[in-house]
Amino acid sequence: MPTALELGAEVFSADRIAARVEELGAEINAHYLTGDLIVLGLLKGSFIFLGDLVRNIPRPLQVDFLVASSYGSGRSTSGDVRLLYDPETGLRGKHILLVEDIVDSGNTLNRLVRLLRGREPRSLEICALLHKRIARSLELEPRFVGFNAPPLFLVGYGLDHAEDYRHLPFIASLEAPKE
Ligand code: IMP
Ligand code: MG
Repeated sequence: MPTALELGAEVFSADRIAARVEELGAEINAHYLTGDLIVLGLLKGSFIFLGDLVRNIPRPLQVDFLVASSYGSGRSTSGDVRLLYDPETGLRGKHILLVEDIVDSGNTLNRLVRLLRGREPRSLEICALLHKRIARSLELEPRFVGFNAPPLFLVGYGLDHAEDYRHLPFIASLEAPKE
């Protein structure tokens, strides 16, 4: 039986996340002066971040989601992304802000950026809560980043390990249990 992983140290507290999300909302609000904005959350990992983020963007906007499946319960990146839900909102001519929980290898984002550019938006930008800064080539560097992330496997505030830990209000690392 594989050894279960245990919750390690807190990396970003709930208060620190809230303060940064407020700043990101202000940055995003200042960036989009005109036009229709669709905030497109990549499920499931972005669900809490997106909920907090949009409440800090006072301009008019719409919310929709993309469901892509790339990871199983393993912890390494596989190259392919499947789209399980496609936004119902028309994207052509609108500003798309793609919201992602964490950029690791960048594979997920690269596939989605290519797909979304094909929908002919007015603009396409990425907002990532966390960026591990290890992606070798990104089609589009996230314009809005919450925090640079340490090279650890992180959970909480939407991030999961095998679907667990998403509900934690803070972000922590996962560790092998002590002997
Ligand atoms: P990428 O395609 O390698 O950039 O991985 C992006 C996706 O992998 C994220 O949206 C997460 O769902 C997942 N992921 C990557 N790193 C972590 C992590 O440290 N904790 C939890 N999920 C992660
Ligand atoms: Mg994700």
